[in-house]
Amino acid sequence: MISHLLGIETLDKSTIVALLDRADVLHGGKASADVLAGRTVVNLFMEPSTRTRTSFEIAAKRLRADVVNVSESFSSAKKGETLLDTARNIDAMGPAVIVLRHGSSGSPALIAKHVRARVVNAGDGTHEHPTQALLDCGTIRRRKKRIEGIVVTIVGDILHSRVARSNLHALGKLGAVVRLAGPRSLLPQGIDALGALVYDRVEPAIEGADVVMVLRLQHERMAGGYVPSLRDYSRFFGINAKNIRASKPDAIVMHPGPINRGVELTSDVADGPRSVILDQVAYGVSLRMAVLESVAGSA
Ligand code: CP
Repeated sequence: MISHLLGIETLDKSTIVALLDRADVLHGGKASADVLAGRTVVNLFMEPSTRTRTSFEIAAKRLRADVVNVSESFSSAKKGETLLDTARNIDAMGPAVIVLRHGSSGSPALIAKHVRARVVNAGDGTHEHPTQALLDCGTIRRRKKRIEGIVVTIVGDILHSRVARSNLHALGKLGAVVRLAGPRSLLPQGIDALGALVYDRVEPAIEGADVVMVLRLQHERMAGGYVPSLRDYSRFFGINAKNIRASKPDAIVMHPGPINRGVELTSDVADGPRSVILDQVAYGVSLRMAVLESVAGSA
């Protein structure tokens, strides 16, 4: 059991494997769990979300929790309230778990120090998106039957991607070979220190890969011009039906969403036979059930 889920960096391999194993059981629909029956989960989302917020809500409801959704546009953050005050006030109402998405890196760790509820990071700035990485690893493991030794190429805006960062930690701990590819302007300096192989061209990066994970350009986190144009980005770093053939014949294509179709990924690949994008979304509910169960069970 984990007390909070703030990132993958601080999890050990056995904890990650236990969460994936539990998610697999829940995904099979064999286990019912009621650790959250009669307890409340608050989804505090201070940035937009389609998948993660909905997935946490469905996961919590499948665990028979009461769910409350708070979004920035309808919260008193609009009137100048600090995140810490918002979190403390929500905490005073006695939820078992607060699921936080926020634009500031480290905000879930900050509120975890000041609330009684368990805290789950649903994406903080450019730091981590731990449940996305866990559901990605679970999806890979279900398809490839293992993670140790498989080659995963992550293509796109690595610099601003909390998904890339969490996946680097998770895949590394589970023994995958991780390659990162993107324009030099979107590859953080020193990222190879985390054990990844770094490429500034996409073709050699996806050659022989078992998994090609495509990321979007995070315009909302870009202060300047990181790529000359979307057209150039698509031409040199977009994944399409032609260049995907450099990966293994049975390679799978992943994307955390939302997809900018025709920019980082063409529709024929996004909707084609290699794509497991909607499998990621489906498995995400089970994975988040496993996470909620674990943190709530530790309370
Ligand atoms: N993958 C992901 O975080 O998607 P949302 O922003 O829609 O939650």
